[in-house]
Amino acid sequence: MIVDERMITFINSLETENSEILEAIEREALDSYVPIIRKEMQSFLKVLLTIQKPMSILEVGTAVGFSALLMSENAPDGCEITTIENYEKRIPIARENFRRAGRESQITLIEGDAFEVMKDLAGCYDFIFMDAAKGQYIHYLPEVMRLLKEGGTLVSDNVLQDGDIIESRFAVERRNRTIHSRMREYLYELKHHEMLVTSILPLGDGVAVSVKKQSIKDAK
Ligand SMILES: C[S@@+](CC[C@H](N)C(=O)[O-])C[C@H]1O[C@@H](n2cnc3c(N)ncnc32)[C@H](O)[C@@H]1O
Repeated sequence: MIVDERMITFINSLETENSEILEAIEREALDSYVPIIRKEMQSFLKVLLTIQKPMSILEVGTAVGFSALLMSENAPDGCEITTIENYEKRIPIARENFRRAGRESQITLIEGDAFEVMKDLAGCYDFIFMDAAKGQYIHYLPEVMRLLKEGGTLVSDNVLQDGDIIESRFAVERRNRTIHSRMREYLYELKHHEMLVTSILPLGDGVAVSVKKQSIKDAK
């Protein structure tokens, strides 16, 4: 918990309900311990999508399709969503959830390892939502930069690791040390990349919002 729990409870108490289908899928996911975006992240995504109005979204980490469906409901009509998942138990559930929501023609689920899948994608995306294995974000970044349109937004979730990110490497449990150093490297890259403008926010489990700059064209 990186923000005072009472503050989160207060903010979340102001939330309005999602659509019936999203409420049902969220309950089912939580009941079966499937990790999905928190309430704070849900409303933050809705705001970003309302500002950006993306017509193409790439999501890395589908789980059972909750966030893909939330994005599909909050993006403009005609927006196409591609989402990647490699955990075979979750893939049929996600597909069934897209069908239940009547969104199967809008959302394309690609099965496989995110890095391998991204290498084969040719699309140019207005919005990329990174919500998979935290230790891999740094490895995905070159592909993400290739796939993100100029002016497009990259949202990376869970970047503050329940507060562990500010601890020294030696204060972090040994098994989490690789993820800890990779995430620090990822955040440094996001903040120092010449093509990105990034803000890191202590929201949910930490979120980084990056916008890809327009490349400078030769002045005539
Ligand atoms: C936090 S969950 C995604 C939650 C989802 N975005 C939501 O809020 O509804 C992360 C998902 O990423 C998947 N994942 C982790 N590593 C992956 C990889 N290398 N390739 C594809 N999917 C991966 C996991 O199986 C898991 O279902």
